Amino acid sequence: MNTEIIKIESPQDKNIKRMGDIIKNGGLVSFPTETVYGLGANAFSEDAVKNIFVAKGRPGDNPLIVHIADISELYDIAEDVPEVAVELFKKFSPGPLTIILKKKDTISDTVTAGLDTVAVRIPSHPIARALIKASGVPIAAPSSNLSGKPSPTKAEHVIGDMMGRIDAIIDGGDSSVGVESTVVEIVSGCVNILRPGGITKSDLLTVTPNVTVDKHVTRQVENSETPRSPGMKYKHYAPDAEVVVFEGDTKLTFEEIKNQLKENKDTVTGVMCYDGYGFDADLVIFMGENNESYAERLFSALRRFDELGVKKVFAQFKDDDDYGMAVKNRLFKSAGGNVQHII
Ligand code: TXA
Ligand code: MG
Repeated sequence: MNTEIIKIESPQDKNIKRMGDIIKNGGLVSFPTETVYGLGANAFSEDAVKNIFVAKGRPGDNPLIVHIADISELYDIAEDVPEVAVELFKKFSPGPLTIILKKKDTISDTVTAGLDTVAVRIPSHPIARALIKASGVPIAAPSSNLSGKPSPTKAEHVIGDMMGRIDAIIDGGDSSVGVESTVVEIVSGCVNILRPGGITKSDLLTVTPNVTVDKHVTRQVENSETPRSPGMKYKHYAPDAEVVVFEGDTKLTFEEIKNQLKENKDTVTGVMCYDGYGFDADLVIFMGENNESYAERLFSALRRFDELGVKKVFAQFKDDDDYGMAVKNRLFKSAGGNVQHII
């Protein structure tokens, strides 16, 4: 298949209409969102949605998020919407929040992997919003990576993974949040976090005091368990390099990583660290000053280490702000649980 790459900088660009038509007519278009790039298809077309699973190599039991442009479109796809869900959408949408709701029959079992619920998100990225409006339908979209790779935060990541597999790729610049949306379910009025992201637990607590974090956000799913969200059982991307996370006070983790680098002189090494810490490694990637910038740069950094053939990556990490949970969730998985707590 020939994949068109098109640079679109403004939601007024006339090509948005053409991209929307591709989606409406059953094609696949990758597009930027504020979290990561999405791989979009008409959520009302079962055939189009099936093609998403083929293009990504995604297991059929992992459901997709359906994207709408406005809360008024919610009742086209969901029903029995709890009051707290409406309040959450009003406060945090458009933005990086996904809510699991009871699905309507308009949404096929292929989208929801046979579940009777549908994941709904209203993205804030202007090009994503313009594309949904232009297509005139809700857009089912997982992250636009090959299954098993990190989610793409740049068009070049999508081009690397999806060329020849989909109709078009909209290059709309880098995603600003960098990790996927916060996914929540509502259980008896209580908001349960299934995937931490850009809308943090403290953010959610401003709407309701009843917020819980699902046990599988912080620990692995055992074979005997059925997680609340199918995505939780899939291993997130682990780079070819061995990743070791050093969690704790930044001065202490700085010293420890320096020692480790000395011991690994004959290895191609990489470091992910906060700004202001210098290391003698083959590739040092600075993650900014806090976990918000860490989130923004994480997936791109993991891809970079692989591209440059790094064998061992040392990651400095401190769980000291609202974004800590979202970064920790992805970083610890990429390290396969290889975490040293430095105290
Ligand atoms: O930020 C994002 O959420 C990005 C952009 C493109 O919007 N999308 C994204 O989609 O990350 P994906 O498919 O990579 O992740 C969707 C997650 C999966 O873990 C899936 O299992 C979960 O949402 N999910 C989807 N529908 C669900 C449902 N009905 N019940 C429970 N979990 C669901
Ligand atoms: Mg994904």
